[in-house]
Amino acid sequence: MTSPIPSYRMNDGLDIPAFGLGMWNLQEGREAETAVRHALDAGYRLFDTAALYGNERSLGRAVRDSSIPRGEVFVTTKVWNSDHGYEQALRAFDESLRRLDLDYVDLYLIHWPVESERLDTWRALESIREAGRCRSIGVSNYMVRHLEELLDHSEVLPAVNQIELHPWNYASRKATVDLCRRKGILVEAYSPLTKGRMLRDRQLDEIATAHEKTPAQVLLRWGIQHGFVEIPKSSRSERIRENVAIFDFELSGDDMDTLDSLDRALATSWDPTGTP
Ligand SMILES: NC(=O)c1ccc[n+]([C@@H]2O[C@H](COP(=O)([O-])OP(=O)(O)OC[C@H]3O[C@@H](n4cnc5c(N)ncnc54)[C@H](OP(=O)(O)O)[C@@H]3O)[C@@H](O)[C@H]2O)c1
Repeated sequence: MTSPIPSYRMNDGLDIPAFGLGMWNLQEGREAETAVRHALDAGYRLFDTAALYGNERSLGRAVRDSSIPRGEVFVTTKVWNSDHGYEQALRAFDESLRRLDLDYVDLYLIHWPVESERLDTWRALESIREAGRCRSIGVSNYMVRHLEELLDHSEVLPAVNQIELHPWNYASRKATVDLCRRKGILVEAYSPLTKGRMLRDRQLDEIATAHEKTPAQVLLRWGIQHGFVEIPKSSRSERIRENVAIFDFELSGDDMDTLDSLDRALATSWDPTGTP
């Protein structure tokens, strides 16, 4: 690795690496464990999994087997939609921690703002944090209305809101990003490479060529310059190394403006804007 990965300070006073490995679609077992090992070797310290991804065991094993102290690794996992509600979310956390086989989780997120029980689920996350079993708590796929409801009904602010973010949806998600900024909630960008769909975009390619970087590196750098946590997924060691090599160049104001203007409300997985 050429340059170290910086950290952000969250609203609970704890630090989170600005960059890490997304783990959706990494198969439990050899594929996931090897990807985590390659990422640790390349300097990654943040790993983003979820009960839904089915690879918490592999992440925990790779972290335990590595020579890097646990305190230097940042593990995120998430409570899935079928486990909303106070008691159910407490149980889901116990199961995630058991699968990870770690002493604690760094960041526990509500994966999706399921309509009826999300406030009870949040209270479960508050208790888990209070008990010291996870360090920070946050949400994912929360748009303005979900955040406003949570802010109106809870004591503890989410430390993080993890949402899909890249130049092809930035303008349409800007109200959510701005609300997070005003409240001091850190924005974590998922599917930052658009799952690979937009990597051949002409304007993106021109910027990449000018900086002698790849389109993927430009997208990740764009997110870092906006102050987002970036969590690209790759199963391939060369791409895992490529994706983190973004701390040695800077996009200009014009580059950022061009990328900011590409919006077309692209959602590569679910679109939470329609969730009441
Ligand atoms: N909270 C949520 O609801 C939610 C939803 C979606 C995702 N996420 C999180 O965000 C993470 C990242 O999002 P994502 O997995 O949807 O998509 P992504 O990171 O935008 O893109 C991953 C895809 O891009 C390819 N890729 C990676 N690096 C590349 C490179 N340098 N050049 C060309 N292609 C490259 C990968 O293929 P290879 O593996 O073959 O390299 C994979 O097909 C997830 O893994 C997950 O942790 C969260």
